[in-house]
Amino acid sequence: MKKLILFFATALLISCGNDKKEEKPSMKIGSKTEKKVSPSNSSEDGVVTVMITGNDQMKFNKSEIRVKAGQKVKLTLRHIGKLDKNVMGHDWALLTKDADMDSVGRAATLDGDKEGIPEDIKDKLIVYTKMLGGGESDTIEFDAPPAGTYTYICTFPAHYMTMNGKLIVE
Ligand code: CO
Repeated sequence: MKKLILFFATALLISCGNDKKEEKPSMKIGSKTEKKVSPSNSSEDGVVTVMITGNDQMKFNKSEIRVKAGQKVKLTLRHIGKLDKNVMGHDWALLTKDADMDSVGRAATLDGDKEGIPEDIKDKLIVYTKMLGGGESDTIEFDAPPAGTYTYICTFPAHYMTMNGKLIVE
């Protein structure tokens, strides 16, 4: 009886071993050399989709975004941190071409408004998202402004110093 069990056990082991061998993927040298680089923007039906994140380290993941003049832009800001919007709020606000980042940033900081956009800087902004806390996201759609280089910032008090970047419209 023991011998029989041993026989089956051995047979099982062998068959398992065989299965494993068959499952082993065959090595194809040089077949996967093409690296897929995910683009920062994806364009579909003439609408360019832009994904940008902000984190608890007071940083955007992008310092440059490129679009074409007049193009429809669908931009999503995602706060990938955990902190509340009262302490680490993030928004994405696009400044008018002639706006000075430091003066707009300082005005937003002095105002101390952690929720919305201070009234006195609204005329310096082309478009902006909601103010977000950790885990939240907001999507806005707008037409890319005329060609040129524009600045975007987070308007949370003092964040513009580390949270800023350029929207380059070609
Ligand atoms: Co912020």
